[in-house]
Amino acid sequence: MPSGTVSLPRRLTAPAPGWTTSADVVVVGSGIAGLTCALRLRERVDRVLLVTKTVLSAGSTEWAQGGIAAALHPEDTPDEHLQDTLVAGVGLCDVDAVRALVTEGPDRVRELVALGAEFDRDAGGEITLTREGGHHRDRIAHAGGDATGAEISRALIAALHRVVDDPGIEVVEHAIVVDLLTAADGAVCGVTLHVIGEGQVDGVGAAYGRAVVLATGGLGQIYTSTTNPPVATGDGMAAALRAGARVTDLEFVQFHPTVLYLGEGSTGQQPLISEALRGEGAHLVDDTGARFMSGRHELGDLAPRDVVARAILDVMRGSGAEHVWLDARHLGRAFLEARFPSIVTRCRELGFDPVAELLPVAPAQHYASGGVETDLMGRSSVDGLYACGECSCTGVHGANRLASNSLLEGLVFAHRIADDVTARIAAGELPLREPAPGPGEAAVLDAAHRLELQRAMTRGAGPVRSAQSTNEALECLAGLAARAPSRAEPGPRTWETTNLLHLGQALTLVAHLREETRGGHVRSDYPERDDTRWLTHLTVRRAEGGALGVTERPVGSSPASPTTCRE
Ligand code: SIN
Repeated sequence: MPSGTVSLPRRLTAPAPGWTTSADVVVVGSGIAGLTCALRLRERVDRVLLVTKTVLSAGSTEWAQGGIAAALHPEDTPDEHLQDTLVAGVGLCDVDAVRALVTEGPDRVRELVALGAEFDRDAGGEITLTREGGHHRDRIAHAGGDATGAEISRALIAALHRVVDDPGIEVVEHAIVVDLLTAADGAVCGVTLHVIGEGQVDGVGAAYGRAVVLATGGLGQIYTSTTNPPVATGDGMAAALRAGARVTDLEFVQFHPTVLYLGEGSTGQQPLISEALRGEGAHLVDDTGARFMSGRHELGDLAPRDVVARAILDVMRGSGAEHVWLDARHLGRAFLEARFPSIVTRCRELGFDPVAELLPVAPAQHYASGGVETDLMGRSSVDGLYACGECSCTGVHGANRLASNSLLEGLVFAHRIADDVTARIAAGELPLREPAPGPGEAAVLDAAHRLELQRAMTRGAGPVRSAQSTNEALECLAGLAARAPSRAEPGPRTWETTNLLHLGQALTLVAHLREETRGGHVRSDYPERDDTRWLTHLTVRRAEGGALGVTERPVGSSPASPTTCRE
């Protein structure tokens, strides 16, 4: 056990709310999960409030290249998709959650098409399906070649614009959620949020709701380099953690194997080179030009993502190189420009031509497989709080998300949440509640510490971890936390930085405790998977006094229900 207790404040330092609003449901986030949930709820409840940190299209969905996985081909089956998902998840998936994903997924994708999303089609008009790592079939639908997320985002935002004048839905952009409001019985009853106001509200306010749905995306900015956009600072996950929700599987961070390597000092969002390139025949080579994936896995270059990332790290460690190479030259100019227009353009802007040369690639943070623990209906352990998309842990990803399952998860579980919230409101189970008096202890970390925090996380709890590295990271983060009750000016940058700190502490704690290597969690001091000891989920939860406790839940057991989770 690392020395010292990790404690979190109940909330971020912020001015008292200067305005209030209310809705039946407050949906936070505007990626595929948030937009789907808000659109479906709007047809069913009286009033939905959708808030998003910057503009509707700024989240990770917009950046998704590869596509959306679903058993759409007549010869494919949900069961085969289930098997591939379970294998990728290395023993930690929740089978019922995966079954919901793969059986409901195809219909949800067809509904997306009916809504206006235009997927790439073959000459016969059928959706073209391709392959990515860990899939034994061509099952990835894509749009604009390699701009699938952008097309889905466009279609959902267009659908929202068609109803935005409807009094049943309000959209507030430039609204960062600060914290969750809880009632005397512990149930979530709204959020505090800061609006960079151009409209009727400005500054910090409170939005009350019978239910709050977090769809706030990932935490990629916790590391020095990531494929995630700048908004991915884990705001919803951190707010849920501070409010006492169970946050599970945080140690399973997916490092995408092929991110364009731009040099040692490159920080922030880095260019993703989609796995779909390998799906179309590109392959990895080392400095000598040798292919190194053959012989390591039956699927070779298309092995599950964690396997490929680990192999690349092995090769880099062996040669001392900062990256390996991706060879797509043999696919030819015409094919590459037509099938991967965004990637080819971006590479060329940065001085690399995939048609003519090898691309330098290295793993970088890509996806948080864990998050706010939910049951099959998206309910968290705190009554009134739901989570979907990357900020959630529904159990479908286990220790390593299967390629292109994330957009599908956002669709399927957002849909389930909308149905559950609707039914519970109709049954009178989600009353509007008053927030409890006494908002609790607050802290905020100066944004000037962000890079130090990211470096500590990358060194200590990055692609390869050890007892020593996680201890060092925990010490560094504790030092930063000790500075947090300072007089730093509250505001979006400091709140984001503090969210990264709180999630960093929780993530490193469980990365320290899990003494094995599995999926996205690689320990140099425990290089083997250990099914005897570690077929279990680690859950972090903030206790009343602030201390972070870690509990274990065996694989196959149900997530705690709201009434039983308050240990
Ligand atoms: C990719 O296109 O390689 C990423 C797809 C995903 O993250 O599922």
